[in-house]
Amino acid sequence: MTTRRRFPKLMFGGDYNPEQFPREIWDEDMRLFQAAGIDIASINVFSWAWNQPDEDTYRFEWLDEAVDLLHAKGIHVCMGTSTAAHPAWMARKYPDILAVTYDGKKRKFGRRHNSCPNSPAFRRFAPRMALELARRYKSHPAVQLWHVNNEIGIRCYCDNCEAAFREWLKKKYGTIDAVNRAWYTRFWGHTYYEWEDIVLPSGLSEGMQGGNSDHSAFQGMTLDYYRFNSDSWLECYLLEAEAIKSVIPDALVTTNFQGNGTYKPLDYFKWARYLDIIALDMYPENDTPPSVMALRYDLMRGLKEGASFLLMESTPGAINWKPVNPAKRPGVMRLRSYQAIARGAESVMFFQLRRSLGAYEKFHGAVIDHCGHEHTRIFRECATLGDELKSLGDRLLDARTESRVALMFDWDNWWAVEMGGGPSTLFKYVDRVQHMYDALYDNGIPVDLIAADADLSRYELVLAPLLYMAKPDLADRLERFVEQGGTFLTTFFSGIADEHDQVVPGGYPGYLRRLLGIWVEEIDPMFLGQSNRLLMKQSLGQLEGAYGCAIACEVVHPEGADTVAVFEEDYYSGSPALTRHRFGQGEAWYAATEPDREFMRLWLKELCAERGIHPACEATPDVEVASRRKDGARYTFVINHSDQHRDIRLGRGKRTDLLTGSIYEGDTRLAPRDVLILHEESEEGR
Ligand code: GLA
Ligand code: ZN
Repeated sequence: MTTRRRFPKLMFGGDYNPEQFPREIWDEDMRLFQAAGIDIASINVFSWAWNQPDEDTYRFEWLDEAVDLLHAKGIHVCMGTSTAAHPAWMARKYPDILAVTYDGKKRKFGRRHNSCPNSPAFRRFAPRMALELARRYKSHPAVQLWHVNNEIGIRCYCDNCEAAFREWLKKKYGTIDAVNRAWYTRFWGHTYYEWEDIVLPSGLSEGMQGGNSDHSAFQGMTLDYYRFNSDSWLECYLLEAEAIKSVIPDALVTTNFQGNGTYKPLDYFKWARYLDIIALDMYPENDTPPSVMALRYDLMRGLKEGASFLLMESTPGAINWKPVNPAKRPGVMRLRSYQAIARGAESVMFFQLRRSLGAYEKFHGAVIDHCGHEHTRIFRECATLGDELKSLGDRLLDARTESRVALMFDWDNWWAVEMGGGPSTLFKYVDRVQHMYDALYDNGIPVDLIAADADLSRYELVLAPLLYMAKPDLADRLERFVEQGGTFLTTFFSGIADEHDQVVPGGYPGYLRRLLGIWVEEIDPMFLGQSNRLLMKQSLGQLEGAYGCAIACEVVHPEGADTVAVFEEDYYSGSPALTRHRFGQGEAWYAATEPDREFMRLWLKELCAERGIHPACEATPDVEVASRRKDGARYTFVINHSDQHRDIRLGRGKRTDLLTGSIYEGDTRLAPRDVLILHEESEEGR
């Protein structure tokens, strides 16, 4: 069954919690929503307790009224299933619903996101709620989107999870011997005899003292627990999603991804297959560099191979969970909203539409502030954006980003490389991916974030920094990709382990050794602030001379690869720091360290230029460039993240700014925190 068409335009709205306010406020809300151009409201996100006061009673009258009211004003409803905070009676009657923490503490009723994903009570009541809601609103024209739970994904270490883990393992491995082999259990006398011997890798079992909860004595086991926990929640998601679809087969169902998209506990690539549309919550801080958000939007777009996603939450004002939460500066909300659209968002949605009066989030930013009226800076900024999104209409809906460069992002690898017992806890996967990403971002070159099992044939360049876990099949696919003319690039500490986090014997980088044409003998991690230098032995594009490098240096022996740069200092001075291996029709690059940002920028610029890959217009450190294509047209977003004017060079050809209708050509000046969406008809796109 195909899902229904999404939306008529770029949607604008956010989380709306009318249940927190007296009924007379709701009418005022409607007036204000209309004044702000709001056309979508996520409701019923945390109202399980209000909807279901006991096991057999459901009361949705308030929700009926809210949905009708929104509908009367032409506002679409994103219907939450309300299951992210279980009711107090449920915790009292069915304590199995309460999760157990890493250090073995049984939670009491409280907060939210407190439910165990393998609790029989949770798995019974949550889908039942989804079913009740689907039955009630199946033909309501306002309900366009279903939103399961909310920011799913705690880790639970209770006995029910433990029992479910054993079942998961039986399915995966079949025998206890296979588990013993996969987890390398002859180490520290861990041989398991019976399935019951296996306990969850928590702080009470495999947690290493002084380590964080990610550090495990048995990494293969913890890796499987992470996969299992992600799967457990996915099952919970599907129980609700399927309940909805049993009533509304073409319902558009999603859940909002958290952690700005790089949320460690859930393998979002795996999840994405089961979501009808990706939805993201994005909460940068004021000083978060724009490339950090850009990477995460590209990742969300990558989850479903280029499909647009929803920006389900962001804040129009301040966040509220840091020690100090400064106001969002004028113009920043608008600018960052366009950044999301530039990279594939089909909506700009906020948490929250009206600021709550009590409890934890009463000082979190909102469209309607505590004063209750529209005469605030934030409201005005929202209304301006609302108008603009109205004028953009459906123009950018379903536009695509075209990229010949791919950047790999793999949750298994992320989990494994940070599990402790390694050369350095500074080998932070997301940071290393970000560093590689920045090199493309700085050049304004579009990139697709891809899974480790993605089809590589669509790309000319595949980048996979810190590819610690290179599964055997991946190495084969990379070899084929390069043989057929592709360029592959990876960095230090790659190809080390297999899918069970066991080291591939016979020399690093394991399965990647043939492709890279090198043997890595030693890995020498560096402390924060420490650095070495990398000296170019031959010039490469604009790269020449020396550049800084950090995080780690390795002792590399070429086995067919050319040495392009060498280390300047330490006992490996003069040995290869950067190698290129010609392999079939293509080439495979290895950086035996992390070169500085300038080196990365020039390196990627050159590798792209060799293949004729250029940005739509020149990016500068503060000016972001991103393009979308649709129906033979190209829309180039030029985003000035600075609070100064910036000169930009657009090159030849007239382009019209969608927001103002002004025509631009050649050199121009962009106001502080302003954005252009330049439209041009392109030959290639036709
Ligand atoms: C998350 C949640 C929301 C709200 C916001 C506050 O994204 O989904 O319910 O708590 O954070 O930033
Ligand atoms: Zn549990």
